[in-house]
Amino acid sequence: MTQPYSTVSVIGLGYVGLPTAATLAAAGVNVIGVDKSSAVIDRINQGLTHIIEPDLDAVVQRVVRDGKLRATHHPEPAEAFLIAVPTPIREDNSPDMAMVESAVNSIAPVLKKGDLVIIESTSPVGTTERAEAALSHARPDLRFPSDHPNASDILMAYCPERVLPGRTLTELVENARLVGGLDETSAAAAKRLYRIFAKGDIRETHARVAEMSKLSENAFRDVNVAFANELSLACDALNVDVWQVIELANLHPRVNILLPGAGVGGHCIPIDPWFIHHAAPQCTPLIRTAREVNLGKTDWVVQQIRRNAGLYTTPRVALLGLSYKPDIDDLRESPAMHVAQAIAGQDWLNELNIVEPHIEELPPALQGRNNVRLLPLEDAIANSDVVTLLVSHNAFRDLNRTILAGKSIIDTSGVLRAA
Ligand SMILES: NC(=O)c1ccc[n+]([C@@H]2O[C@H](COP(=O)([O-])OP(=O)(O)OC[C@H]3O[C@@H](n4cnc5c(N)ncnc54)[C@H](O)[C@@H]3O)[C@@H](O)[C@H]2O)c1
Repeated sequence: MTQPYSTVSVIGLGYVGLPTAATLAAAGVNVIGVDKSSAVIDRINQGLTHIIEPDLDAVVQRVVRDGKLRATHHPEPAEAFLIAVPTPIREDNSPDMAMVESAVNSIAPVLKKGDLVIIESTSPVGTTERAEAALSHARPDLRFPSDHPNASDILMAYCPERVLPGRTLTELVENARLVGGLDETSAAAAKRLYRIFAKGDIRETHARVAEMSKLSENAFRDVNVAFANELSLACDALNVDVWQVIELANLHPRVNILLPGAGVGGHCIPIDPWFIHHAAPQCTPLIRTAREVNLGKTDWVVQQIRRNAGLYTTPRVALLGLSYKPDIDDLRESPAMHVAQAIAGQDWLNELNIVEPHIEELPPALQGRNNVRLLPLEDAIANSDVVTLLVSHNAFRDLNRTILAGKSIIDTSGVLRAA
């Protein structure tokens, strides 16, 4: 079948961009991957990956070997450009859009009449319009959608990504998608591009709606987790078992309370709500408070460890889990890492015994301290007075509860409850 796009450029070859580039290439499109990192480019051009994602290695190896995907530093002419670079927040929780701006500016010289530009990076409302203004400024010879609706030279859309790391290749194909055009023609063009590989529903809308929808999805999750985390603190204060409370409350046909934990981690949920709050602070107290509740839950865990450690003269603390969610090796934006770093250097602590079955060695932030060790589960518990479960890895579920006898236990995920 002839594809509507024969050459597509993906700018930013990370957790989102590389699987997308590989999936497009596997569907027969010639894909030019662009990244600012030489290490990333070199690996991809050898048919290797630099991120851990099930089945991605084999697809990248095949499409690079077949000449369908190649990586380079600088954008080259293509029919469509898909931007998937990071959008972090600054110290003051304001969005840092420097990488999107730089990626947008980098494609300006190679744009030509008929090209489609898509932003996939999670972005504040108005980002696609600002990108259009930057491109229009750089290329006054081309007509853009806002000034020439449905009659422009360049088509522009915002199309957020919803994949879950660990299931990216499957979800890229199966998830429902939003394609937010700056005009109808742009949305329809973006839909044609994603239809090359996407099987899920594809909804056309305006770019601003798509930008806000993506942010709303993650703010919704954050607010709901904050409710569970706040409930866990209230139950602790009232000496009630929060896990039983949630299980019983969820028997109500219209109630579905999420489970509390040590905070909220990952690259999206702790960050994206700030994009809404920063843009409309006066009308988003709930979104801001949810962020504060979830950050506060992590600090509460640190205080609990400190309080329990105070019961011992030379306290030894075990932390079970470091990753940001169960059964993965990703430690970035992890509440468990925050807890570990908060107590690792404290003078009241005699030993910190860390268990993380998914890593081989401690991360750099925890290395080089005499009293911090990475240990197997049973050894860490045997050598500790305070046992803190931070991540509900499957590996912790079958723990022989008898080895917890006599220990102070802080269970943020309810996994050790039976003990
Ligand atoms: N990781 C996820 O699961 C996920 C899910 C949904 C949405 N998102 C969003 O997708 C976007 C990308 O996230 P990611 O996790 O793929 O990031 P990442 O850090 O894994 O990869 C981004 C890549 O972009 C490159 N890069 C940065 N600036 C560049 C530039 N100007 N030109 C070319 N390359 C550049 C980096 O070198 C890096 O290889 C973010 O906005 C993120 O919020 C991520």
